[in-house]
Amino acid sequence: MSGICDRSRGPRIHSPRGQGKAATGRWRHDLDPCDTESVGDDVRSDLSDEEFVAGIPKVELHVHLEGTIEPLSLFRIAERNGIELPYDSPEGVVAFQAERRAPGNESLVNFLECLDISRGALRTGADYHTITVDFLARCRDEGVRYVEMMVDPQQAIRQGVPLGDCVEAITQGRADGLTNHGVRSQLIMCFQRDHPAAEAEALLEQADAHRDSIVGIGLDNYETPGFPALFAATYELARRREYRLTSHCDVNQPDSIRHIRACIEDLGVERIDHGLNTATDPSLVDLVLERGIALTACPTFYHGQQGAAESRLDMYRSLLDAGTMISLNTDDPAQFGSGWLTNTISEAMAAARFSRSDLVRFMHNAIDSAWTDEHHRRDLTSELLTFCNR
Ligand code: HPA
Ligand code: ZN
Repeated sequence: MSGICDRSRGPRIHSPRGQGKAATGRWRHDLDPCDTESVGDDVRSDLSDEEFVAGIPKVELHVHLEGTIEPLSLFRIAERNGIELPYDSPEGVVAFQAERRAPGNESLVNFLECLDISRGALRTGADYHTITVDFLARCRDEGVRYVEMMVDPQQAIRQGVPLGDCVEAITQGRADGLTNHGVRSQLIMCFQRDHPAAEAEALLEQADAHRDSIVGIGLDNYETPGFPALFAATYELARRREYRLTSHCDVNQPDSIRHIRACIEDLGVERIDHGLNTATDPSLVDLVLERGIALTACPTFYHGQQGAAESRLDMYRSLLDAGTMISLNTDDPAQFGSGWLTNTISEAMAAARFSRSDLVRFMHNAIDSAWTDEHHRRDLTSELLTFCNR
């Protein structure tokens, strides 16, 4: 085992990770007594790769609650709501999704169509409570210590669940998940890019009543023309309310580079969900580094998306090496065969040949870009270091 923390060095000002490009690191721990940078690939040589991935304490920042509903649970929820699913059985869900993401079929559109079938079964606050608690139980099994989960309230409202019922049910589920499974979590409210910005703005005002239950806002669903400029006023309103700000920029969409830049410069986001196309534009890499923008990549999600998965691997390899705050996440673990975080990490490591020290850097990036308080981030970092030093 190699030691990764030389405490004799004492407090240190953070240094840039990767190949010498400095991130301003808005969320970096400026006075960490040690860092994960010196972790070697021989870390925890007492463990097999499988044990290492299973055991490393994890943080997840990009996961959609509606994408966590497993087939069996989907059938139960649909049954209690009297909804007929277009599947014969839970196995049918997996088979249908496999067909929709078969080579040549994969796309964000096909993915969202499948997601719509699952999330279309949600009809009550109790459904949102169920999926939150189920998800957090699964997080415990995956070794996830802290998770930021997204929800689309517009979807809930269209299906008869008012914003208050949706947010309160999730909040109760988060409290239950902490008590019963020891997993801390926060909620990100996403607006749908293919629905009017005025709807998002109205919802933001309604959300004032639940301000303490929502840490930040995001944008997801179809990447439609007009994004992101259409949402500038929404983000201004959110900034005034001191929400943390993120937005999806899905991979290989028309105008990906322009969208990423505009989200950073015009919406003022602190994070981009996906945002891998950054890797193809050096000036954008510089901007991401300068502003300490976090990127939440979702390796297994990309299997269901058009374009060679390999080119995406190259993108997150180069973003890690450039020193960006890129992390590994699941997106929608129960959809399109993405799988849970341990599986996502294992697949990414195998496909991109990430080393153990790369994985530690991904995890440290996730901790540093988490929207939780400084104390909690320090605790998470020290748990990561303790695991590596054991
Ligand atoms: N992109 C866009 N919309 C989504 C996603 C995503 O990754 N996941 C769930 N809704
Ligand atoms: Zn997503």
